[in-house]
Amino acid sequence: MSDPDDPHANISQEKISVDQKDPFSVTPWEVEGQVDYDKLIDKFGTSEITSSILDSFKTITGEIHPLLSLEYFYSHRDLDWILEKYRHGERFYLYTGRGPSGMIHMGHIMPWLFSKYLQEKFNSKLIFQLTDDEKFLFNQNLSKEKINYFTRENILDIIATGFDPKKTKILVDSKHIQHLYSIAIEIARHITFSTAKAVFGFSNSSNIGMIGFPPIQASPCFLPSIIEKAPTPVLIPAAIDQDPYWRVTRDVATKMGYYKPAQIHSKFVPGLGVSGKMSSSRPETALFTTDTPELIDKKVLSAFTGGQATVQLQRKLGGNPDVCPVFWYLRYFFDTGEESEERFLKCKIGNLLCGECKADLSNHSKTFITDFQKRREKAKDSVDEFIYTGDSF
Ligand code: TRP
Repeated sequence: MSDPDDPHANISQEKISVDQKDPFSVTPWEVEGQVDYDKLIDKFGTSEITSSILDSFKTITGEIHPLLSLEYFYSHRDLDWILEKYRHGERFYLYTGRGPSGMIHMGHIMPWLFSKYLQEKFNSKLIFQLTDDEKFLFNQNLSKEKINYFTRENILDIIATGFDPKKTKILVDSKHIQHLYSIAIEIARHITFSTAKAVFGFSNSSNIGMIGFPPIQASPCFLPSIIEKAPTPVLIPAAIDQDPYWRVTRDVATKMGYYKPAQIHSKFVPGLGVSGKMSSSRPETALFTTDTPELIDKKVLSAFTGGQATVQLQRKLGGNPDVCPVFWYLRYFFDTGEESEERFLKCKIGNLLCGECKADLSNHSKTFITDFQKRREKAKDSVDEFIYTGDSF
């Protein structure tokens, strides 16, 4: 995802599908400003997740996952279609990925945890792509050595998330390109430079590897059809900034005789700073899976909140949970729906102090991350089991 040192920042002159006057912009490489998620649905031309889709989830799985009811996953393409297919007995694959440009923080694992949940509920096979090539091409400051290091480390986090080893395969682009290449050139043949410029904002100063990259991220959308030797539906859980990739992929899918890949789009996890998403480039605003308990305490303690300047004012005026990253973080990760509502109301009327919420967040995060670190350590023994080796699972 985005990186401040990204040379691609120069595309901001011609922001993809986002008007100049908008106070925010979202591209696969850069998220800037306060994101208006409803507006993004209009700009990208995706659809909101309606109550009838939530009903379908309920019918199929017997429940609605909190990340759906809390609208963290809030937008989609063809989600209704893929659920309908499933109801008629047609299974789908899941496909998601990671650009290994740094270590993993809680914001990254949130969509992974949801993917794991979907894998369990729908008994889906999952392809997990690591785009080490993308990070190399899009970031002049990252060496191959560093990217290789992050790739190895990120794989441990993916495994520690708890995916089913029998139904999950990890692909590292530079290592497993032979499984993607023939699909990629076919996709590439259908995408003109003019389309690539319009969708991704490439310009004359983009290096030519960047321009040729999108088909590589598109290819795993069609890999399941090759593995299964029949058109196979694919659902991609991913943050909404990746949508431009799927837009072009969907355009070429029919021409190539495949189903269009369906998507379920998430928002970004708020960082612990004043505004914006959790970001590796501001490590003090993100909780990493490798952080020590002391560091977690320190980061949470210095987090921005929606509280008043003093305890007296907080008691008198109440806080503003809507803009409070501590509140949202607790809501998405740790509170039950009921607990979160109660926290919201108590904060609003001045009955809850920021210190209390911060203590809750610290404690929950420390427990979660300590536990995660144990699984991460164990993951070192099962890397081979997860690596993609050919056109079968
Ligand atoms: N481009 C993504 C990133 O930089 C990585 C990625 C590859 C991905 N394939 C994906 C993300 C599929 C979500 C779904 O993080």
